[in-house]
Amino acid sequence: MPKLNENFIKLNENYLFSEIAQRVNTYTAANPDKKVIRLGIGDVTLPLGPAVITSLHEGVDALADAKTFKGYGPDFGYAFLRSAIVSYYQHNGASIDIDEVFVSDGAKSDTGNITDLFGADNAILIPDPVYPVYVDTNIMSGRTITYLDANEENNFLPMPDHNVHADIIYLCSPNNPTGAAYNKEQLKAWVDYALTNDAVILYDSAYECFITDETLPRSIYAISGAKRCAIEFCSLSKTAGFTGTRCGYTIVPKELNFASSTGVALSLNAMWRRRQSTKFNGVSYIVQKGAAAVFSAEGMAQCRETIKYYQINAGIIADTLARKNMTYFGGVNSPYIWFKCPNQMDSWSFFDYLLNNAQIVGTPGAGFGRNGQNYFRLTSFGSRENTIQAMERLETLL
Ligand SMILES: Cc1ncc(COP(=O)(O)O)c(C=O)c1O
Repeated sequence: MPKLNENFIKLNENYLFSEIAQRVNTYTAANPDKKVIRLGIGDVTLPLGPAVITSLHEGVDALADAKTFKGYGPDFGYAFLRSAIVSYYQHNGASIDIDEVFVSDGAKSDTGNITDLFGADNAILIPDPVYPVYVDTNIMSGRTITYLDANEENNFLPMPDHNVHADIIYLCSPNNPTGAAYNKEQLKAWVDYALTNDAVILYDSAYECFITDETLPRSIYAISGAKRCAIEFCSLSKTAGFTGTRCGYTIVPKELNFASSTGVALSLNAMWRRRQSTKFNGVSYIVQKGAAAVFSAEGMAQCRETIKYYQINAGIIADTLARKNMTYFGGVNSPYIWFKCPNQMDSWSFFDYLLNNAQIVGTPGAGFGRNGQNYFRLTSFGSRENTIQAMERLETLL
């Protein structure tokens, strides 16, 4: 009989979005005539830009001809895409080398898979609330987590406590779900803490493209010293609408070296290289062709237009909440709007209340951690028409 990984027993029974889908399905089955508006899951709705589509077609055509056909590609991504990512970082005020770029099928896989590089007995800090993948993947591998409270007192941006030791720190900025984004001074404090404690920061910048405040860092490598202490995960899911197309990238600097238990210096770049070449066979050529077009001048301009559309939606949601005198966070440098549930409702009760009375689906804050119990997340990724309609319903209801 196989001995099972019983850490799975410690996970919440349902992944957040499965539970939401189940409740919505039950509601729609009982109320087939009601139009439900989904502003819950962070999935985009607008199509890929024309530059990406053209490049995807070129990728398909290349595979149709023996002279240009591609079989297995390089494990870490084609050079044309990796160098486009290097140039993108230069524009964002950070300098990285092509050997530090690892193309992947998305940030979810990489933020989960990175746990392979670390032993079981690390002190791990994870903000609460946050994207649930960091927590669940560490629970699956039997690690103990210390939570960093993100709340209204610290504007949902927890700062390092020098009395608490950590080996591994997860940061997500702009944050899912709260929309809060660290400024350079705050991020510098985290980098200094990591360097002092010999810790590594796992920095998720999946929403960097939503940053409008030019003073905010889009990459942790905009902070000096970060290449000695941070791995960065990014994704084309929100930047370019690749949630279904699947492409992301992870930056593992070559300066990132830590001593083994016997005192030998180990390179995280070399370890990730080894891990990926053993367990991953790369992203399809077609998708990488499409991804490279995102970083062209034309592709970037098209992505910015799409992001602007979602940002206007975020403004519509924020204005509605402001008119109702509700305190909200995010919505400016982020596609997410995070607010306290009215009348001291807990977040799952408010979820049911909104679904039953206004047919709006949002995401209960409890799904992102204990500090989200009384908060709720709405996304700006819906259509303009649905966003306006949902806000009209919300305004009448609240
Ligand atoms: C913070 C954060 N990181 C990563 C991801 C996943 O990105 P990808 O689609 O590239 O797997 C998400 C998706 O919503 C996210 O919110």
